[in-house]
Amino acid sequence: MEYTPAQNRYQEMTYNRCGNSGLMLPAFSLGLWHNFGEIDDYQNARSIIHKAFDAGITHFDLANNYGPPPGSAESTFGKILKADLARHRDELVISSKAGWPMWDGPYGDLGSKKYLVASLDQSLKRMGLEYVDIFYHHRPDPDTPLEETMGALDLIVRQGKALYVGISSYSADQTREALKILRELGTPCLIHQPRYSMFDRWIEDGLLDVLGQEQVGCIVFSPLEQGLLTNKYLGGIPTGSRAASGRGNGALEAGQITPELLNKVARLNAIAQGRGQSLAQMALAWAGRDARVTSVLLGVSRPSQLEDSLASLANSRFAPEELAAIEAILGK
Ligand SMILES: NC(=O)c1ccc[n+]([C@@H]2O[C@H](COP(=O)([O-])OP(=O)(O)OC[C@H]3O[C@@H](n4cnc5c(N)ncnc54)[C@H](OP(=O)(O)O)[C@@H]3O)[C@@H](O)[C@H]2O)c1
Repeated sequence: MEYTPAQNRYQEMTYNRCGNSGLMLPAFSLGLWHNFGEIDDYQNARSIIHKAFDAGITHFDLANNYGPPPGSAESTFGKILKADLARHRDELVISSKAGWPMWDGPYGDLGSKKYLVASLDQSLKRMGLEYVDIFYHHRPDPDTPLEETMGALDLIVRQGKALYVGISSYSADQTREALKILRELGTPCLIHQPRYSMFDRWIEDGLLDVLGQEQVGCIVFSPLEQGLLTNKYLGGIPTGSRAASGRGNGALEAGQITPELLNKVARLNAIAQGRGQSLAQMALAWAGRDARVTSVLLGVSRPSQLEDSLASLANSRFAPEELAAIEAILGK
């Protein structure tokens, strides 16, 4: 069936400036790490993308290795783009990344210029694109000189294969260094993509300060700790959930869901109920509460979750007492 985007799609979403760049990103973006692979249901994937675009989500986040198998999320996205969104390409911000293992041999991993340039060429083919809007180095490489990795990002922009560049999971110190090199090269870093949730607050210990001072955007991933920060695991591991999926590639596994974490989840759930929202909605609002966070990356396995998560926009402020009660549970 032909897809016609909702007319009012830009009215409900909030758009935030990404650092001091010209680019605005939606408060919520959609990530395609899981649920868009070759093993997943194509019509479900398509419905999620439609629902996201209908709700004003303009930013879709991919990486070379998303699937499974690796690469297949980009192929799925390319297919949906061609079928339904080709006319809207200029309304979209599409990102990809390289940095985790992608192909055999010494050139399909980490941070060499050889890997990054070839990987982006492959990603563009899979998605049927001439360029991505943002290209990231996916994780720090301890052995490749930072000048080479940042030089590869600069080259890619000059080749016209990406408009902006970013880094992911770099520490505060590595970030400072990378930003300096990129600025000197004349390709300023647009954005950093770190992991951030109530259960993983490392960015509060320096990285957010660096990004704020340097006026670089921040888009946070796994804000629900892969689904743990919802009420779904309180009564066991439901079939169809990520922890039951055995997908691999870093997906949440049953053994990671400990009684201690579930105890915290249950107490957080009670606070969310007091606010009249689901725990997922509260956890998403919490992850985006700092003005230095440009966008929060959603990962959903079905359209109904997207609807639930987006409702968080209507109740995203916290009273000081609520924040204190959450702090007491998290015990930072
Ligand atoms: N840069 C990096 O290294 C990196 C790493 C990881 C992720 N990312 C990016 O971040 C994106 C999001 O990561 P993530 O998928 O881990 O995010 P997440 O929000 O922590 O977890 C998503 C999972 O939470 C559950 N969920 C989502 N909304 C829900 C709702 N309203 N109610 C109940 N359950 C809900 C679903 O689990 P079920 O599947 O169980 O239904 C969903 O698959 C990725 O797609 C990717 O783009 C980047």
